[in-house]
Amino acid sequence: MAKQKQSSSCFLNSAILLFTIFCVSSVSFSARLHPILQSFHQKPIFRSNFHSIYDTSNYGTFQLSNGLAKTPQMGWNSWNFFACNINETVIKETADALISTGLADLGYVYVNIDDCWSSVTRNLKAQLVPDEKTFPSGIKAVADYVHAKGLKLGIYSDAGAFTCQVRPGSIFLEKEDAALFASWGIDYLKYDNCYNLGIPPKDRYPPMRDALNATGRTIFYSICEWGEDDPALWAGAVGNSWRTTEDINDTWASMTKIADLNDKWAKYAGPGGWNDPDMLEVGNGGMTYQEYRAHFSIWALMKAPLLIGCDVRNMTAETIEILTNKEVIDINQDPLGVQGRKVSASGPDGCNQVWAGPLSGDRLAVVLWNRCSNATTITASWDQIGLESGIRVSVRDLWQHKELTSDAVSSFSAKVDAHDCHFYLITPYPDHSVE
Ligand SMILES: *[C@@H]1O[C@H](CO)[C@@H](O)[C@H](O)[C@H]1NC(C)=O
Ligand SMILES: *[C@@H]1O[C@H](CO)[C@@H](O)[C@H](O)[C@H]1NC(C)=O
Ligand SMILES: *[C@@H]1O[C@H](CO)[C@@H](O)[C@H](O)[C@H]1NC(C)=O
Ligand SMILES: *[C@@H]1O[C@H](CO)[C@@H](O)[C@H](O)[C@H]1NC(C)=O
Ligand SMILES: *[C@@H]1O[C@H](CO)[C@@H](O)[C@H](O)[C@H]1NC(C)=O
Repeated sequence: MAKQKQSSSCFLNSAILLFTIFCVSSVSFSARLHPILQSFHQKPIFRSNFHSIYDTSNYGTFQLSNGLAKTPQMGWNSWNFFACNINETVIKETADALISTGLADLGYVYVNIDDCWSSVTRNLKAQLVPDEKTFPSGIKAVADYVHAKGLKLGIYSDAGAFTCQVRPGSIFLEKEDAALFASWGIDYLKYDNCYNLGIPPKDRYPPMRDALNATGRTIFYSICEWGEDDPALWAGAVGNSWRTTEDINDTWASMTKIADLNDKWAKYAGPGGWNDPDMLEVGNGGMTYQEYRAHFSIWALMKAPLLIGCDVRNMTAETIEILTNKEVIDINQDPLGVQGRKVSASGPDGCNQVWAGPLSGDRLAVVLWNRCSNATTITASWDQIGLESGIRVSVRDLWQHKELTSDAVSSFSAKVDAHDCHFYLITPYPDHSVE
């Protein structure tokens, strides 16, 4: 297998000019459709099953043209920790904490205000107004504060008559609300799905896309219709990300369920549009260190938005360690932008799981995830992750921050604790494979 010529050997037949032209143009065409197979090493790295493991048939096929979301969005959102208990002080202190903890430097730049920022009624001009008690200085003042720190401000509304906490929604007033958000300097809109009048999402979400565009301000558009109408199939042309599931909660059961639901839509993600399995619960106290580490690893691998959902003003050392793991963040932000996915589930109840995804530079990210309550040995075979069996690779552990071997061939195994995961960066040495 290792000696087989790679498919781009058409270059070798370039004696016939026409054939060469055909060849070059078909290579560049397929490179556009399948940017993940551009290796020109002497020996093939990837098995022929690579494209069925990592189906990217819808990668980049339709995208919102606002130029955003080349990689998944990173930042913070108020809901998971504070719910309705927000005010301008907490938003500003969060911006301060994103800077002082170093999180902002790692890419967490969106400061997103969720539900409850607005008053329960519109004003006489039918405009949304910030709650007088909790945002007395107004949203523009918060935006100015956040911008002065080099961060971006997100806000929340609803594609219905009311938000989930029964503040005014934006349906039928999309243009007016988008213009108001733009005038405040808003950079991001999360657009929810409550009180939606039974109108299909495909009819309710595009008007806000067009309204945001018409403002002339570049605003990230985060669609939150809870995965009800299979948004992966259509929302790429509407928003920069789309929720694929119900709301997450701070439990192992919720996190694992949502990971599996989001996995189903992997082939639809790509630069410009991401599947969104909801905000992170890391640091909120309902899961163990190992479970949060698995949560963060799988979200990173799935190219999910990395939106912190804890109180960043008051994080434990363990929470900081997880959220600031630059090697894991780099997997999430890899420019190739192909969503990693579950490639194998074996053992009792399918608990021994291998999740993997291609990265730029012919590298792979591999997670060994133990979904059961007993430590177990999990193996990733080259067959499962799409490598030629004779390929030698180096294996770097992204939680231990060290190279485990520079010489793995055909498979890699590790003992993984209950509910824990190991996260590896796999770099092949194609020209040094076993003969
Ligand atoms: C609005 O959409 C057009 C084309 O669809 C695009 O070229 C332009 O950059 C968009 N503007 C904003 C502010 O998103
Ligand atoms: C602002 O919200 C935070 C978090 O809920 C709370 O601790 C604080 O007391 C509030 N401050 C004011 C002035 O309401
Ligand atoms: C959390 O999510 C799980 C899985 O969907 C669900 O069974 C559970 O009831 C939820 N818990 C709360 C408190 O909402
Ligand atoms: C900080 O978090 C800890 C839990 O990790 C909690 O017990 C404490 O009350 C929090 N402090 C503040 C000021 O919120
Ligand atoms: C698995 O773990 C449970 C406790 O979590 C323990 O009671 C049981 O003996 C373990 N089973 C095996 C096969 O180790």
